[in-house]
Amino acid sequence: MAAYYGLFVTIHLLCAIIFVGAVFFEVLVIEPIEKKLPSGVGAQVAEAIPHRVRVFMPIVVTLLYLTGAAMFWVHFSARPDFFGTRFGWLLTTKILLTFAVLGVFVTAMRAARKGTMDPCRFKYTHRIVGALMLGIVLLAKGMFYL
Ligand code: HEM
Repeated sequence: MAAYYGLFVTIHLLCAIIFVGAVFFEVLVIEPIEKKLPSGVGAQVAEAIPHRVRVFMPIVVTLLYLTGAAMFWVHFSARPDFFGTRFGWLLTTKILLTFAVLGVFVTAMRAARKGTMDPCRFKYTHRIVGALMLGIVLLAKGMFYL
């Protein structure tokens, strides 16, 4: 599995860019301009986004977690004292945060499917996921340098 590490990290990074980028774009660009659009148009945009996201995001998120798990195994199996290292603890903290993201993401997808995702819930979901993602990216790089 270690032989494919370069491939895993490349796919992982691309998927992280799409997932994290979509959330940050929503919070920093879409949400502020929605208020400035003529009435009704903002609501249409808010409704169209989850439809579009549901087309590709489940595949992106699945690849992100699968490649993450594969890389975790490469590190874990190579260090018998994995949890005794700073790297091991920071990576484990990163993974716990990613599971919090997964929980929020799956709940939001279910709500969107059932039609119970109102604009207020939509907005706060993105803010919570955005904050968690900031922590994940900082830990993803910090685990190599702290
Ligand atoms: C929301 C989900 C996730 C996001 C946004 C995310 C994001 C990232 C980012 C940005 C990097 C740095 C890549 C680089 O600069 O080369 C990274 C590295 C890493 N991630 Fe994730 N990740 C997620 C889920 C996971 C999961 C579920 C695992 C393990 C089960 C995982 C394990 C790893 C490992 C081992 C690395 C180190 C790769 C390396 O640079 O050698 N990630 N992650």
